[in-house]
Amino acid sequence: MAEPYDLVVIGGGPGGYVAAIRAAQLGLRAACIERRATLGGTCLNIGCIPSKALLQSSEKFAEARRGLAEHGLILGEVGLDLAAMMARKDSVVATLTRGVEFLFRKNKVDWLKGSARIAAPGRVALTGADGAASEVAARAIAIATGSESARLPGLDIDERRIVSSTGALSFDRVPERLAVIGGGYIGLELGSVWSRLGAKVTIVEFLDRILPNMDRELGPALQRILARGGVAFKLGTKVVAGRADGDHATLELESVAGGERSELVADAVLVAIGRRPNTEGLGLEALGVALDRTGHIAVDDGFATNVPGIYAIGDVIRGPMLAHKAMDEGSALAEHLAGQKPDIYYNAIPAVVYTWPEVASVGETEAELQQSGVDYRVGKFPFTATPRARTNGETEGFVKILAERASDRVLGVHIIGPDAGTMIAEAALAMEFAATAEDIARTSHAHPTLSEAMKEAALAVDGRAIHA
Ligand code: FAD
Ligand code: NAI
Repeated sequence: MAEPYDLVVIGGGPGGYVAAIRAAQLGLRAACIERRATLGGTCLNIGCIPSKALLQSSEKFAEARRGLAEHGLILGEVGLDLAAMMARKDSVVATLTRGVEFLFRKNKVDWLKGSARIAAPGRVALTGADGAASEVAARAIAIATGSESARLPGLDIDERRIVSSTGALSFDRVPERLAVIGGGYIGLELGSVWSRLGAKVTIVEFLDRILPNMDRELGPALQRILARGGVAFKLGTKVVAGRADGDHATLELESVAGGERSELVADAVLVAIGRRPNTEGLGLEALGVALDRTGHIAVDDGFATNVPGIYAIGDVIRGPMLAHKAMDEGSALAEHLAGQKPDIYYNAIPAVVYTWPEVASVGETEAELQQSGVDYRVGKFPFTATPRARTNGETEGFVKILAERASDRVLGVHIIGPDAGTMIAEAALAMEFAATAEDIARTSHAHPTLSEAMKEAALAVDGRAIHA
C-alpha cells in the first residue's frame, strides 16, 4: 500500500471538505472520499444552496406579483417559468460544487471517488462507482457522512407524490395542494417556496407551535405572517396514516390532545420531520465505534471516537445539524490533528430560518433561562420603529436581546424580521466576545440600517431605547 495519508475524510460535505482543506493548509497530506458525483454534500447539492436559490427566486416572483405597486412600479402580467427557475437553481449548485473541486486541486487534497467503509483503524476500503475495490491507509480517519431525512413509518417516500426535501426541490410543476408534515426549518422554507409559487400549503405540526426549538415568541410571530400570506396550519396534530392514490395523496390526521380524526387530501406531501445521522455501511459495529443514545457517533471535545485514530464531525455527531457548525468542526478537527488547541463555543452558533421574514437566533431562549433559574432582563425593539425598515417597506418583526441581570452579559438574541440572518452575525460575535448589552448599545451602528434595531434592543435592555 502507498504511504498513508495523514487524514482521510469520509464525506465531502461542509464538514468533510473543510476538514480536508484546513488539514492541507496546515501541511498534512489529506484525501476526501465522496460517493456522490459532485462535492459539497447535502448542503450544496440538495440542501442549503438549492433551497436558498428557490427561496430567492420565489421571493422575487411574489414581490413582482404583489409588492411593487407601493413603490410606484406598475408591472404587466407576471408569469412563472418553473423550468427556468429550476435550471437557475441547478446552475448555482453546479458552480458551487465545482468550486469545491477547484479548492481541492488548489490545496492538493485528493478526491477519492467512491463509497467508503472503515476496514480497520488506519485502513479505509473504497468501492468505486464501477464496483472496483481498493484500500487507502490513513493515520487519522474522519467520518463526516452527514445525515438523511427521517422517515415517517407507513408513509413511503416516492419523491414524486410523497417527497422528502430532495423531491420538493425539484417538482416539475406547482402542486395545487401541498401538505407539509413538520413545522421546522424545511417545512417552513420549502412550504414558503411553493406557497409563493401558487400552491395551497397546509403545514401539519405535532407540537403546539412551529419552530418549537426556538424562543417561544418567534414561531407564533412567523405563523401569523405566513398565515396572512395563505399558508394553513394544523398544530398539535399528528399524521396517523397516509397513502398515495393515483394523482393525489390522503393523510389521516389526529389531534394530539383530543384524538379527533380528520383527512387532508393533497397533490403532494412533503415529509420534513427531522434528519437522522448517516452511520450505516461504514463498518462501525465491527470496529466497536460507540453511538450515543440519539444514534449519533459519540465523540469527545477533540472529535475522537472511542476507537483510536477514528474521528467524527458534522451532522453525524451531536449538536445542531447546520452547515456552519459542520464547517467549524471540520476546521477544528484539522487543527487538533496538527497539534493546535481550537475551541468551538457551541452556545454562539447561530440558527437561521430563511423564510420571509427571516428568523434568526443565537444563545439561550427565554424558556431555557427560566428553566436554569438565571435572572435576566429583556430588551425588545420592533422593526416598525426602525427607519430603514420603513424605507424598505419591510417592517414585520423585532429584535429581542436577553442579558443577565447582574452582569449585563448577552445570553441570547432572537430576531424575526428582514435580513435577520445577516443581522444575527453581530449577536454571535458579541457572544463570542462575552459582550454586554451595554457594549452593543454603545457601538455605533450606521444610520439608516436595519442593524439599528439591534442597538435599540440593547438600549431597551436598560429601559432606554430612543425610538420607541
Ligand atoms: P453532509 O453535507 O450530509 O455530507 C455528507 C456527505 O458524505 C454526503 O455527500 C454523502 O454522499 C457522503 N457519504 C456518506 N456516506 C458515505 C460513504 N460511506 N462513502 C463516501 N461518501 C459518503 N444548514 C444550514 O446551516 N443552512 C441552511 O440553509 C440549510 N439548509 C438546508 C436545507 C435542506 C433542504 C437540508 C436537507 C439541509 C439544510 N441544512 C442547512 C443542513 C446542512 O445541509 C447540513 O447540516 C450539512 O450539510 C451537514 O454537513 P456534513 O458535512 O456533516 O454532511
Ligand atoms: P426540524 O427538526 O427543523 O423540524 C421538524 C419538525 O417536525 C419539528 O417541529 C417537529 O416537532 C415536527 N415533527 C416531528 N415529527 C412529527 C410528526 N410525526 N408529525 C408532525 N410533525 C412532526 O427538521 P426538518 O425541518 O426536517 O429539518 C432537518 C434539519 O435540517 C433541521 O433541524 C436543520 O438542522 C437542518 N436544516 C437547516 C436549515 C437552515 O439552517 N436554514 C434549513 C433546512 C434544514
